[in-house]
Amino acid sequence: MSELRPPSPPRRHLLSIRDLDRADVERILDTARALTASLEREVKKLPTLRGRTVVNLFYESSTRTLASFELAAKRLSADTMSLRSAGSSADKGESLKDTALTLAAYDPDVIIVRHPSIGAPWLVARYTGAHVVNAGDGKHQHPTQALLDLHTMREALGRLEGLQVAIVGDVLHSRVARSNALLLHTLGAEVTLVAPPTLFPVGIDSWPVETSYDLDSVLPKADAVMMLRVQRERMSGGFFPTAREYSRRYGLDGRRMATLQDHTIVMHPGPMVRGMEITADVADSDRSVIVEQVTNGVAVRMAVLYLLLGGSEPASPTEAAETAEAHS
Ligand code: NCD
Repeated sequence: MSELRPPSPPRRHLLSIRDLDRADVERILDTARALTASLEREVKKLPTLRGRTVVNLFYESSTRTLASFELAAKRLSADTMSLRSAGSSADKGESLKDTALTLAAYDPDVIIVRHPSIGAPWLVARYTGAHVVNAGDGKHQHPTQALLDLHTMREALGRLEGLQVAIVGDVLHSRVARSNALLLHTLGAEVTLVAPPTLFPVGIDSWPVETSYDLDSVLPKADAVMMLRVQRERMSGGFFPTAREYSRRYGLDGRRMATLQDHTIVMHPGPMVRGMEITADVADSDRSVIVEQVTNGVAVRMAVLYLLLGGSEPASPTEAAETAEAHS
C-alpha cells in the first residue's frame, strides 16, 4: 500500500502531460484504483481534504469535466465553488489576470482551469498561490482526460505497455489527442493517429506516433480505438467536404466495428455526435467503455487532488484501516 503515499515532494501543479513521468502516472493510476473502492460504498465521502477549498474556473462549456472535478473534491470532503465565464465578471470584460488575483485573495488550495486560450492555466498559476490543474486550454492540453483514459485502458485490458491505440478524427483541434498521444508514449503504448490530411497539425512528424489517413487498415490491429469529436467551435474554414463524407471515411460504424479484434475496446471522451464520428450501435455496444471513462474520471481526479495536496491522511478506506491498526 506504500504506493498510495504522495510523491515527495508533491508536485505543485498539473498543467501539462509533460509534468508527469512514468512513476507519477503509475502512482496516480494506483491511487485512483484504490479510491474506486470508496466510490462503490453507499457512503462515498472520505475526510481526506476536509477544510481545503477547490475552485473550478470554467471559461468553456463542460459537462463531464466540471461535474467530475466537483464530485471528486466533494467526495474528499473539500469545500468547492464553481465559477463559469457566463454570469461571472468575465462577461463584463474582466481579464483572466484580474480574475486570478481576485480568486487569490480568497486563498483557495486548488484552482481547476478550463479556458479557450492556450496557456491560460499557467497564467492563473503565476498570479495565485494555489495548486492549478489544467482542465483544458484551447487545443493544447487536457491532462486529467488522458489520465482517466489510460486508467480505463489499464483496467479494461490489464496493461498499457505495448498496447496499440488508434486515435481517430479531428487531431488538429484536439487537446485530448495531444495529451493522450504523449501520455501513452510515456507509458510504452504505441499510438496511431488517424485523420484526413487537413486535420493533422503541422509538425506532426515530431510527435512520437504513427499516422495514417486510412482507418480501415488501422482498426484490425488496434487494442483500443479512441474516437474524437470534430471540434466545429475551433474551426474557421472547411476542413472536409461534408459531414456525410467525413463519416464515410472516418466514422466508426457497425461494419467497421466487426473488423476489430475480440478484446478491442471503443472509447470517446464525450460529448459524442452520434451519427458523425460514431454510430449509436457502436457507442452502445459491449465494446464501448464510454460510460466507464466517465465513472473513472471521478476516481482519477480524486487521486490528482489528493496527490497535489500531499494528502496527510490516507487516500483510501483500506489504507485508513491499515494505518489505524498499525497505530493501535
Ligand atoms: C473534450 C474536451 O473538452 O476537450 N471533452 C471532455 O473534456 N470530456 C473533448 C471534446 O470536447 O470533444
